[in-house]
Amino acid sequence: MDSNADAAGKKRLEDFNPLDPIQADDPYEWYSQLHAECPVYRIPQTGMYFVTKYDDLRAMLRDTETFSNNLSVIGAMQGAKQDGDRDVYGEVLRERGWEHMMTLQRTDPPLHRRYRELVEAAFTASRVRTMAPRIEELTHQLIDTWIDDGECEFIEQFSLPLPGTIIAEQVGLPGSEIKTFKRWATAMMKPQIMKLNEEEMRECAEVELEVQHYLDGLFKARRAAPQSDLISVMVNTRFEGQEPLTDRELQSVMRQLINGGYETVITALAHAMWQLIRFPELQNELREDKSRVKNFIEESLRWESPVIGLFRRATKDTEFKGVKIEKDAIILAGYGPANRDADKFTCPHQFDAKRDNAGAHLAFGSATHFCPGGQLARQEMNSAISILLDRIRDIELARPLPIPAHHSDISHIALKQLHIKFKKIR
Ligand code: HEM
Repeated sequence: MDSNADAAGKKRLEDFNPLDPIQADDPYEWYSQLHAECPVYRIPQTGMYFVTKYDDLRAMLRDTETFSNNLSVIGAMQGAKQDGDRDVYGEVLRERGWEHMMTLQRTDPPLHRRYRELVEAAFTASRVRTMAPRIEELTHQLIDTWIDDGECEFIEQFSLPLPGTIIAEQVGLPGSEIKTFKRWATAMMKPQIMKLNEEEMRECAEVELEVQHYLDGLFKARRAAPQSDLISVMVNTRFEGQEPLTDRELQSVMRQLINGGYETVITALAHAMWQLIRFPELQNELREDKSRVKNFIEESLRWESPVIGLFRRATKDTEFKGVKIEKDAIILAGYGPANRDADKFTCPHQFDAKRDNAGAHLAFGSATHFCPGGQLARQEMNSAISILLDRIRDIELARPLPIPAHHSDISHIALKQLHIKFKKIR
């Protein structure tokens, strides 16, 4: 019998380690066990409180006075104080760039509004619609580069360059600089998702410094001569009665847009493709009725949400759903487990492309910090999947997935590789 199991053969909650890559590769059984036994669970390996039920999570996210976003994610990950990034990282930026400050995702109302309004101005539905032709053009161009080979590594050759190029172009970097962009985004994300030593922290900070100086040049250029990109909206939009954002604030908001708009969409696209392979009958069904692609994508976002959980800080000693939480404790808002909650989604572990409430998932969060890039992500996914289905068929794995199949940590889950083969349609 598994040593991590009780007499009935069931694993005990405390024996599940979300930091163990093999266990984290398939956390869904654990989620159900948490729902049944301990819906607000203190993860022993991290000390964080994991809120896992759909309704509880939504209630928690609405209470921004008790559960604050004002915390350093780098600090939380690296075990530093809550009020700042670990010294070495902050030092590099303080001395030669723009030190991080709490903006947008790291603020609570009412301050949050100051940044949110600006980001919403940049991501209006009509602006996202104007980006659709470019997304479609790029989708075709990427497919053209590998379609005649009959196979490709889907993540490197499609799901990464599509959102990468779109967001790079939106932040004013030529699409051809996708490799630079990838290096930037990866280095900036790293200290937020894994524990690093001092040297690694310094290396990441140096890359962020490079990004900051590049952006600073762009801020100046777009103030002098606005274009149709995101940076131009960000530096030139003015709200009545409000001071314009300082360069340090802008640096901080842009960093969140770069981080938010890249890894998540890469993962969501890869997961959607993996579902088409796992449930191959969907390929013909969706090709024959494209109006169903939208719901398929919502179900894919629900079923394997790229963001498992994001952080909040308790502003005081409190009690939530019967669990005592101490001041300054970190709470993990469990988007992944909430999307597998049987009280919200019937047979939650079943992939059902026709599920009528698939769109009620929390993959984009909820309430104050609901993802402003959700529309762009959905546009990218809809265009990509519809065009892929038009151009290739009989898609299957060309190589087995590695074990573990995902890069996963307590916050994110993402397929590592996806080698596919297929037949060309056109
Ligand atoms: C499938 C793709 C995506 C997923 C799964 C996703 C997920 C999320 C989630 C769960 C949140 C809530 C954060 C919280 O509760 O603290 C969020 C917020 C955010 N996302 Fe996304 N996101 C995606 C795409 C994007 C894109 C394309 C962008 C921008 C280009 C973006 C930018 C942001 C920003 C800036 C926030 C913070 C908003 C605020 O604090 O008001 N995301 N996202």
